[in-house]
Amino acid sequence: MKILVTGGAGYIGSHTVLSLLENSYQVVVYDNLSNSSIESIARVQALTNKEVDFIEGDIKDKAKLRQIFSEHKIDAVIHFAALKAVGESMHKPLSYYQSNIHGTICLLEVMEEYNVNEFIFSSSATVYGEENNVPYVETMSLGTPASPYGASKVMIERVLQDQAFANNSFRGVSLRYFNPIGAHESGEIGEDPKGIPNNLLPYVAQVAVGKREKLSIFGGDYPTADGSCERDYLHVVDLAKGHVAAVKWLEKNQSFKGIEAFNLGTGVAVSVFSIVKAFELASAVNIPFEIAARRAGDLPAFWANADKASEKLQWQAEKTLEEMMIDTFRWQSKYPNGYAHD
Ligand SMILES: NC(=O)c1ccc[n+]([C@@H]2O[C@H](COP(=O)([O-])OP(=O)(O)OC[C@H]3O[C@@H](n4cnc5c(N)ncnc54)[C@H](O)[C@@H]3O)[C@@H](O)[C@H]2O)c1
Repeated sequence: MKILVTGGAGYIGSHTVLSLLENSYQVVVYDNLSNSSIESIARVQALTNKEVDFIEGDIKDKAKLRQIFSEHKIDAVIHFAALKAVGESMHKPLSYYQSNIHGTICLLEVMEEYNVNEFIFSSSATVYGEENNVPYVETMSLGTPASPYGASKVMIERVLQDQAFANNSFRGVSLRYFNPIGAHESGEIGEDPKGIPNNLLPYVAQVAVGKREKLSIFGGDYPTADGSCERDYLHVVDLAKGHVAAVKWLEKNQSFKGIEAFNLGTGVAVSVFSIVKAFELASAVNIPFEIAARRAGDLPAFWANADKASEKLQWQAEKTLEEMMIDTFRWQSKYPNGYAHD
């Protein structure tokens, strides 16, 4: 089975490509490298001793997509390619709607032209918006996220449902990720954000190796046990395996039509202060921090009800918080500048 992975050079994409190769799938990666390096693909190939077809290009470029679908017999698409910085999306909404929504529609149109009907989408817990209660369950209605980034994920989920309704052959899965962290245990691939990290763990890791002076914790007075935000952190390798589980589920359930949503999380919320402590313990490095003002749009706490993925996909997050910390630190210490300047 041959799978087209858009955004496959990125953080979650590269770990998923590795997991697909380990499970004997053939992989074509399509990525414009706007937030990644081709080095991640080279490392995945070295780790697995398997080849990946890499094509550089943008999901909005339908001519290039057509070329891929005519040259390769693609059976399914896993769609990671997107802009993903919540804060940036507030300042550049048009770019986010253009890349994420228009880009996804271009991809779906070309898939339809080539009669490729299996789709796995990188959705996010953000689709539950501000109105749903925690823990989030897939039976809840899509919410109204505060950011254009979140709104783009809600809109794409809606597009997928409408497309599945209109085209009886089209079927797929929306995987709603909670907070992926960590890196492959080899330390060879990991999260390599360009510029100042938007997410907690890459920031903590960069402080640990002396690239940044101190961590800013946004808000210490939330109505949580220790006053900091709580999130459902899961290991990126577990998340990658969730994609393989989704591909297998679609393969096994040929009679399934439509779009099925699954939460991919651990079901446990962990506070920012606890993350910092766990990282210090795993790395034996002190992480200086300050409490800064809350960020607009940050919710106090959310976590997954992960029962559905466990029951239907037979998938559960397995790695511990300690492993998430150790693996992050290994990657960051081995490659302090990420893929750029080894
Ligand atoms: N990391 C998270 O915390 C998180 C949480 C929920 C959902 N997601 C979603 O998962 C997906 C992957 O996230 P990630 O953390 O690996 O991000 P990432 O930025 O590391 O990966 C995205 C990849 O897509 C590529 N890309 C971006 N725009 C493109 C375009 N127009 N055409 C072709 N390639 C393009 C980038 O170069 C990058 O390699 C995204 O859709 C993101 O919204 C991420």
